[in-house]
Amino acid sequence: MSTNASSPAGDAPWTVSRILDWTTQHLKKAGCETPRLDAELLLAHARGCPRIQLYVQFQEVVTDAQRAVMRDLVKRRAVAEPVAYLIGHREFFSLDFEVTHDTLIPRPDTETLVLELISLARKQPAPRILDLGTGSGCIAIAAAVNVPAAQVTAVDIAPATLEVARRNARRHKVDSRVEFVLGDLFAGLPPGRTFDWIVSNPPYIPQGELSTLAADVRLHEPHTALDGGPDGLAVIRRLVSEAPAWLVPGGTLLCEFSPEQAAALLGLVEGNSAWTGGRVLKDLAGRARVLAAHRAS
Ligand SMILES: C[S@@+](CC[C@H](N)C(=O)[O-])C[C@H]1O[C@@H](n2cnc3c(N)ncnc32)[C@H](O)[C@@H]1O
Repeated sequence: MSTNASSPAGDAPWTVSRILDWTTQHLKKAGCETPRLDAELLLAHARGCPRIQLYVQFQEVVTDAQRAVMRDLVKRRAVAEPVAYLIGHREFFSLDFEVTHDTLIPRPDTETLVLELISLARKQPAPRILDLGTGSGCIAIAAAVNVPAAQVTAVDIAPATLEVARRNARRHKVDSRVEFVLGDLFAGLPPGRTFDWIVSNPPYIPQGELSTLAADVRLHEPHTALDGGPDGLAVIRRLVSEAPAWLVPGGTLLCEFSPEQAAALLGLVEGNSAWTGGRVLKDLAGRARVLAAHRAS
């Protein structure tokens, strides 16, 4: 989509189809991995319609106002700003979540943890679930939506992040069953509270690897959500050591991690007598993804 009204194709109008083709080529040259998909998501956002509708609008001419919006979006996408931030939302577990630069963008990887949580928590009469490092609220809210008997507490250390999570709970009409607490892991919780589940997708990237992450992540996602200290395990170590005091006997910890950390994580629970039944769950691609362990009775 040239910034000029004219183009090599003369006066050909800027139809949906032409803008999609132009943008796809432009984003491809800029190094985007999914240029056509990104082009469609951005144009649908600029036109205020669902992406699927573009397919019946190919010959429609895009208005000047929509082209101006699109031009800005494409410019930002070409310098690696994630599509989810540009359009302000991302789907996770078939639910649509608002995301801002204050929240990590929910990843499909995290659905492994949520699947395990909801399939087991559903069998309990009134499960109490604690989500540590809630970000957009995606785990806490997916759990509340899919386990109607659950009471969920969602903690984050960043106030602006927690506000987005609160809005997402209202959006999905579970705000009466999801309580939000600002704090450093367990520090903001009333002493003596206990939970049946403690779940977390904590920051787990080793500090030294932050500079090697893809530009989308490195330049745009909050480092508080990524930085796991020198070996990536700083937050996880605290979690594993402090969580038993907040779980009922037999209660379960589910913690996401990066596949190469599996042995270290199992070692943490196996070396701590407060835990029993430590095991690693794999994602659909067969990669080790989630640590599960129970509080010893
Ligand atoms: C990897 S993100 C996960 C966000 C969300 N649960 C998800 O799966 O998309 C980690 C989150 O933990 C929060 N966080 C980091 N350190 C924390 C701490 N010490 N206590 C509470 N939250 C923390 C960050 O602000 C961030 O929102």
